[in-house]
Amino acid sequence: MPYHPSAEAQKLIDRLVGDGSAEQPWAGKPLPKHVAIIMDGNGRWAGDRGLPRIEGHREGIQSVRAVAQACRKLEIPYLTLYAFSTENWKRPRTEIAALMKLLRDFLKEEIPEMLENRIRLDSIGNIKKLPLYVQHQLSKTSRATKAGDMMQLTLALSYGSRDEITQAVKKIARKTVQGKIKESQITQELVSEHLFTAGMPDPDLMIRSSGELRVSNYLLWQIAYAEIHVTPVLWPDFRDIHFYQAILDYMGRDRRFGKVRSK
Ligand code: IPE
Ligand code: IPE
Ligand code: MG
Repeated sequence: MPYHPSAEAQKLIDRLVGDGSAEQPWAGKPLPKHVAIIMDGNGRWAGDRGLPRIEGHREGIQSVRAVAQACRKLEIPYLTLYAFSTENWKRPRTEIAALMKLLRDFLKEEIPEMLENRIRLDSIGNIKKLPLYVQHQLSKTSRATKAGDMMQLTLALSYGSRDEITQAVKKIARKTVQGKIKESQITQELVSEHLFTAGMPDPDLMIRSSGELRVSNYLLWQIAYAEIHVTPVLWPDFRDIHFYQAILDYMGRDRRFGKVRSK
């Protein structure tokens, strides 16, 4: 379905990338290249309505669609969504099973939309831990959308940053022992190249919904200098408008990267 922003959303888009007539105190500053989101609050959303938690996850998929459209609209090339953490395996089996089915259906149903919008789907995490039927759909969807050159939508699945860093250390250690790399060649860039996110720019902006002030083992290395936007909105209520608000918040920030303020 083509995306038609509401009048309210269009106003925010105009403020962000508008014709120059709108108030744009950040004029000349680039939009973020990579936005990472911790999609949180599905269970509370359902609980508030007396519904089972899975209904929150189901509605959360509508938020994923809305955010992908909003991100694509701004031509932001990377969107990375935290969909399932290594720690989430400790949830009840019934919730995990329902989540996996929702994930498979999403991956299947979204292919036409992704093709239409030149979006390629990718994933990071311990993918081999996922049920086989999810792994199959994941590779099918990734293959089908491979040519998408406008935006990379990355799902973090069975993802944990400490797990990712540990795996990178192991790979580097192995190569060092085999004599393929010297200790002096172990740089920050080399470490980055051994993470699941190799080849992707680091996130400029990290958004967390549902008000929690923590990073829950998400992209710890990569967010070293990301701006953080936390909103109290629960993920199933999160829509394009909230995404644009987060980008506006980001545009107003003064990113110093440890240096003194640039005039
Ligand atoms: C986020 O919502 C979705 C996943 C972690 C899979 P939660 O399920 O964590 O919802 P809350 O935090 O319990 O409200
Ligand atoms: C983080 O949310 C993981 C995902 C969004 C997939 P959690 O709900 O699992 O995190 P905590 O438990 O609040 O830290
Ligand atoms: Mg949560």
